[in-house]
Amino acid sequence: MNEITLDVKIAKTTIDRNIYGHFSEHLGRCIYEGFWVGEESPIPNVRGIRKDVVAALRKIKVPVLRWPGGCFADEYHWMDGIGPRAQRPTMINTHWGGVVENNHFGTHEFMELCDQLGCEPYICGNVGSGTVQEMSQWVEYVTFDGKSPMTDLRKANGQDDPWKLKYFGVGNENWGCGGRMRPEYYADLYRRYGLYARDYGENRLYRIACGARNDDYHWTEVMMEMAGSDKLLGGPYMDGLALHYYTSVKRLPDGSREGSATDFDEAGWIEIIAKAHVMDELVRKHGTIMDKYDPEKKVAMIVDEWGTWYAVEPGTHPRFLYQQNTMRDAIVAALTLDIFNNHADRVRMANIAQTVNVLQAMILTDQEKMLLTPSYHVFEMYAAHQDATQVPIDVQSDHYEHAGYRVPAISASASVGDDGRLHLTLSNANPNKDLSVMVFVRGLKASTIEGRVLRGDSMNAHNTFAQPDAVNPAPFTGATLTHDGLNLTMPKMSVVALDVM
Ligand code: AHR
Repeated sequence: MNEITLDVKIAKTTIDRNIYGHFSEHLGRCIYEGFWVGEESPIPNVRGIRKDVVAALRKIKVPVLRWPGGCFADEYHWMDGIGPRAQRPTMINTHWGGVVENNHFGTHEFMELCDQLGCEPYICGNVGSGTVQEMSQWVEYVTFDGKSPMTDLRKANGQDDPWKLKYFGVGNENWGCGGRMRPEYYADLYRRYGLYARDYGENRLYRIACGARNDDYHWTEVMMEMAGSDKLLGGPYMDGLALHYYTSVKRLPDGSREGSATDFDEAGWIEIIAKAHVMDELVRKHGTIMDKYDPEKKVAMIVDEWGTWYAVEPGTHPRFLYQQNTMRDAIVAALTLDIFNNHADRVRMANIAQTVNVLQAMILTDQEKMLLTPSYHVFEMYAAHQDATQVPIDVQSDHYEHAGYRVPAISASASVGDDGRLHLTLSNANPNKDLSVMVFVRGLKASTIEGRVLRGDSMNAHNTFAQPDAVNPAPFTGATLTHDGLNLTMPKMSVVALDVM
């Protein structure tokens, strides 16, 4: 029996639009080819940035974009990425395949990309191999409105006015690729680097500290005690604490992953879905530690890397992390976004990894061709939740069991917009059974329902360059009004988004 109960009248927490954020790194074909093709490219572009990719991402209302990494961030020296492109020094992207990075996409190009997307920039600074001075000068270069050597340099490079920059990450994964630090050591560095990343003029940085990997609760405990507590003099020193969690079959010693993105059986389907549900436990447990030091929830949990991670597509560079994206990824996206919506009191930003051509991408490109993945469609269908008010929801779901795994078949979340519309999103992870769901709605007398459904004809249904519309949202006709809400028939392995008035 699947029953959902929700009460529109007790809605109070805003679902921060940044929960629908994205992440783009100098990795494989994400930045180069995915976004940046250069001004001379035959691929239609505006100031070097692909028009088709920007147009598609504008439709899902990308609210915030994190850059330049990832592990690349702690090797990146921003001054290499400014000035005339032909004169920018090259570097080796040691972490991601040892390829030559020509630095043609740097600060100015990133801010231009955010401008074209209509989103907020989120820059991640270099703690692992950069100096305090270098990070401090980057913030000055971008945001200072007075006269200084950095502003003179910015102006000489063609940008007179400072940009507005709110989100600033002080390092990435500093427990691993960002310096192999212990939390006690990083916490001190965070306090120091964060201090010299100054607020200039009207600009107020929202400082995000590197957070835990998976269930490293000790990291969260130390970070909150040393930098996140409101008991610290002038504290907390951070606005957000990150969390990274990837859903994968198995991590190999070299950091790569096992398991094909498209070639899997039902055991492979449920394993990934069960592992995606772990996000709920992580958010709860890290959240409890944060509550201890910050009961007023001033510090946000920022899940600035999440998504599925499989073995790369056969024949592609092992360090470019290019993978296909199926209905399984769509279910992962839906249930994870439901988790974030339902924890919107603490989770105020999340950034799926990564926007184009890398990991659980929204978009795949092949030269001038582009396709939208099933995960893209989920983001588009869930966009109505952005900045809406979360409606607390109780979900009683059948369990779906297979190969020793047991997961709730139905995930759901709800919000209400300023116009009074109720947005309800759901997924059915069961690949074998359509499921009836009774939804009891309090505080709103429903009179009309509009909906869309994303479904595939197999677990690994996906879009290809030959068949880009194999998985596409369609109108949903499986909902009927009842005297106390609605009844739905959720097709097997589907995602549904409803608007109820
Ligand atoms: O997204 C790929 C990598 O995963 C990032 O560079 C790193 O932060 C994480 O380990």
